[in-house]
Amino acid sequence: MKKIKNVIIFSNNHDWHSKQLKKELQKLSCKVFYRSLEDCYINTSLKKKIYIPGFEQTLPDGCFVRIIGKGSFEQITRRLTILHVLKALKIPLFNDIDCIEKTTDKSMTTFLLSYFGLKTPLTWVPEKKRIAKEILQKQSKKKLISILKPLFGSQGKRIKILKNNKLNESLDNVYYLQNFENNKSRTSEKNWEDYRILVCHQKVIASIKRTNKKELTNISQGARPIKINPNKEMVKIAIKASSLVKADYAGVDIIKDKNEKLKILEINSIPAWKGLQKTTKKNIAAILAKAFLKKINKKKS
Ligand SMILES: Nc1ncnc2c1ncn2[C@@H]1O[C@H](COP(=O)(O)OP(=O)(O)O)[C@@H](O)[C@H]1O
Ligand SMILES: [Mg+2]
Repeated sequence: MKKIKNVIIFSNNHDWHSKQLKKELQKLSCKVFYRSLEDCYINTSLKKKIYIPGFEQTLPDGCFVRIIGKGSFEQITRRLTILHVLKALKIPLFNDIDCIEKTTDKSMTTFLLSYFGLKTPLTWVPEKKRIAKEILQKQSKKKLISILKPLFGSQGKRIKILKNNKLNESLDNVYYLQNFENNKSRTSEKNWEDYRILVCHQKVIASIKRTNKKELTNISQGARPIKINPNKEMVKIAIKASSLVKADYAGVDIIKDKNEKLKILEINSIPAWKGLQKTTKKNIAAILAKAFLKKINKKKS
């Protein structure tokens, strides 16, 4: 008989994704615990030096990291430390903390992508407003548009398209500036579009085009997901990108520039898959649960 595995799903809001995962993990003989990183803390009086509610005696067999949650810089750092501690205690994390850190900081992802030869839009990340303005002036001279993103953003929130390359505001005194790729669809609909490819253990498991009436094509910004069959190049770069950050699974955002060249916008190591699920008969949560269990079992063997 299979030994029951005690696994945690970390989130501060156990939504549809947590429920889907729980159902599939239970089918694989797992006992699933919903926990929040907010409730775990370092406690040096304990043998393993970490307190996880309900895990006073034994540690979990693995942790699926769904949501880290909002908070101050200190709160987020503390929660990431919990994940570092779990890694040090040899608990398999899905995704690993190193992967999560590399992809949460958009500037690090951009560096890795461009340094390792994966095409990504031209990007500059200064702290000084003076430098940011100089960069934007050069963009104007070349008749290019720029986009300003928060370093740790998601769901298209707080992103500004700088049509005139004018800087009205700063986001946390960091200027993540990128060349705005004109990806307006050349179809009759004339919508804006990009692609989201979900990769798990070096395989593409679902792919969509996201189209929207406005420039930001996140599903949470109102974009419509449309199933696509990705071409060879799209598959190749999505898998390469996820391997670059050693992701167990990742949502890779890809855009077509005005010359139809593919460029990677970002790698999401905690991607939502509700939009993707609507476009495929595959059970995404089941695929992720299996891959997570595989990682746990690999560690044990
Ligand atoms: N360089 C760019 N050129 C054109 N559109 C972009 C660019 N960067 C981002 N976008 C648009 O903004 C959306 C969100 O950007 P992204 O970098 O993926 O950040 P987030 O983490 O908020 O999803 C993208 O899906 C795309 O529609
Ligand atoms: Mg994105």
